Amino acid sequence: MQQKVLITAGGSGIGFETASAFAAAGAKVFVCDIDTQALAAATRVIPGVITRPCDMARRAEIETMVPAAVEALGGLDVLVNNAGISGPTKPVDEMPPAEWDRTVAVNLTGMFDVTRLAIPHLKRSEAGVIVNLSSIAGRFGFANRSPYAATKWGVIGFTKTLAIELGDWNIRANAIAPGAVEGERIERVFAGRSAISGLTVAEERAKAIAEQSIKAMVDPKDIAALIVYLASPAAKAISGQVIPIDNDRQRA
Ligand SMILES: NC(=O)c1ccc[n+]([C@@H]2O[C@H](COP(=O)([O-])OP(=O)(O)OC[C@H]3O[C@@H](n4cnc5c(N)ncnc54)[C@H](O)[C@@H]3O)[C@@H](O)[C@H]2O)c1
Repeated sequence: MQQKVLITAGGSGIGFETASAFAAAGAKVFVCDIDTQALAAATRVIPGVITRPCDMARRAEIETMVPAAVEALGGLDVLVNNAGISGPTKPVDEMPPAEWDRTVAVNLTGMFDVTRLAIPHLKRSEAGVIVNLSSIAGRFGFANRSPYAATKWGVIGFTKTLAIELGDWNIRANAIAPGAVEGERIERVFAGRSAISGLTVAEERAKAIAEQSIKAMVDPKDIAALIVYLASPAAKAISGQVIPIDNDRQRA
């Protein structure tokens, strides 16, 4: 069976690597993203990928994107809820409410909207799968990143609930919790911490890695491989779980 896969925010980063990995495994892949240039670039390098712009903070756009994805794919077997923004780096009492709202909108409400619209189609699949992107910030408290941590804990509660609700349709739902992933985004996170701590960006990076048993950054290709595995028949007994991929990090 050729898997039909929808990946949100797959124009770059982990979503892009995941789209590439599914395509390489023979799946039919649909990717949405807010960045049309990233989508155009993805179309050039991922064979057969179908793309569409969508802002995950806009319910109306999601409400047209999901049906368009299902129609283009000819059904839906796998939903990868990858979209998630870092949000600001500020203590709670200085957190701009509008930035809190935006982070919740993209990371949690957008995930809810995509999923509620995808479920009727996943129920028609022989083996429906949902993989949600949480984070190390969904397993620990995370100073100065309250909207991010709150939404990533929220992703876990949402995932565990989906697993229970959808088990009767043989749909599995799992969350993955990456740690520090190699790429531009984590460099922005270190820069944000450095602005508050007074340490240099290099010192912040070294401090983060020092919290880990394996002293390395996570390769986004390894995250993509984990997602492809979770969507495969070999993972048919895995549902309702949170799977860290973080070099055994001890705190966020
Ligand atoms: N990178 C990390 O270190 C890390 C660690 C743990 C968890 N995660 C999670 O993994 C997921 C992907 O992270 P990433 O590092 O690949 O992200 P990223 O910052 O590299 O962005 C990936 C894509 O998201 C798109 N995007 C941003 N806002 C959007 C919106 N409103 N609507 C649609 N698309 C939008 C961007 O255009 C980009 O193409 C997120 O949920 C993130 O929280 C990342």
